[in-house]
Amino acid sequence: MATIEKSVVTETQNSKGFDVQRIREDFPVLRQIVNGKPLVYLDNGASSQVPQVVIDRGSIYLEDEHSNIHRGVHYLSQKATTAYEGAREKVKRFINAREAKECIFVRGATEGINLVMHGYGRKFIAAGDEIVISAMEHHANIVPWQMLCEEKGAVLRVIPMNDAGELLQDEYRALLNEKTKFVAFTHVSNALGTINPVRQMIDEAHKYGVPVLIDGAQSAPHLPIDVQQLDCDFYVFSGHKMFAPTGSGIIYGKADLLNKMNPFQGGGDMIRSVTFEKTTYAELPNKFEAGTPAIASQIGLGAAIDYLDSIDRVKAAAHEHELLRYATERLQAIERVRIIGTAREKTGVLSFVIDDIHPHDIGTILDQEGIAVRAGHHCAQPVMQRFNIPATARASFAFYNTKEEVDVLARTIEKVVEIFS
Ligand code: ALA
Repeated sequence: MATIEKSVVTETQNSKGFDVQRIREDFPVLRQIVNGKPLVYLDNGASSQVPQVVIDRGSIYLEDEHSNIHRGVHYLSQKATTAYEGAREKVKRFINAREAKECIFVRGATEGINLVMHGYGRKFIAAGDEIVISAMEHHANIVPWQMLCEEKGAVLRVIPMNDAGELLQDEYRALLNEKTKFVAFTHVSNALGTINPVRQMIDEAHKYGVPVLIDGAQSAPHLPIDVQQLDCDFYVFSGHKMFAPTGSGIIYGKADLLNKMNPFQGGGDMIRSVTFEKTTYAELPNKFEAGTPAIASQIGLGAAIDYLDSIDRVKAAAHEHELLRYATERLQAIERVRIIGTAREKTGVLSFVIDDIHPHDIGTILDQEGIAVRAGHHCAQPVMQRFNIPATARASFAFYNTKEEVDVLARTIEKVVEIFS
């Protein structure tokens, strides 16, 4: 019997009254039959599904508004610009930024982190400086900082974690010092589900006057985000994990920092004037949005935010939490199953291994039953190394998942264990 040392879930509000069957009707993809079985979509940590209203908003843009933004005085261009800037206003409200211009549209969290690395890091980090990240980062929040350290002769420091997958706060405080010049860590671990105490950790870094970037790719779809309350300097998330199309996302930055930074990419729309002698740059947010952006996708992100505003997010979060609690209980009861990531504070991410069965085999058998999970290292190889495993299978929940789907998952895992016994 798999055991778990401590409670992996925390108390949340009641999900009573959250009509999951009603919600499911909003997501056409969930009606699919896969390998003769109803689709059980549990790969929301990779990409969540898109509600009909977001699909419709994309069609409206393509049918009625499709045009380039900013550069045109013509009717369609103005319509497209209004819709695009409208989406930025929605993002501003969603994360409670002070101003819409602090919300820079990017293709996703990876691009947002790279923007900060190039725009801030390459300008302000020097030889001997230290950059602090954590042991549970996605590669997107490791590799850019490693590249910067290599280029500048700076040093990467890593906050370690315990066996439950919680960052060690004493060790974090001990890592911070006068040489620390940047701190970047995830709000929620994509491989473990751990929710980090970000507010407290940001305060610690600020004692040294150091800017902090939060990777919100796994938190923005599930937790309320208030960048002013967090007092983070940068916050990044991807639209495709929060019910919007791929190619959408945001890097929030405090205006004074964004103003001080170098642009990320050069090109059209990010300039004030260009001569062969000298180029001057546009104001925020255009300074960071060179070239034609993913207009339809970002408008879709705005529609996804509208959709999230239209449902009871508190009850939705409580429902996801109950799914995590129930799935943890079911999987713990299965012989040879071991849950990886048992932090006290978690979102709906359930990573697991089964003794002597490769996660890819688990994923393949689950797929034959119509169940979508992710199997692999989840772009977090150092997390796998920390737990001394090559990979995990990962079920990740959204508010449209059901307890019945968890039952199907648990029954199929029991079958997997039987097949390989
Ligand atoms: N970062 C995404 C995941 O965790 C793709 O699956």
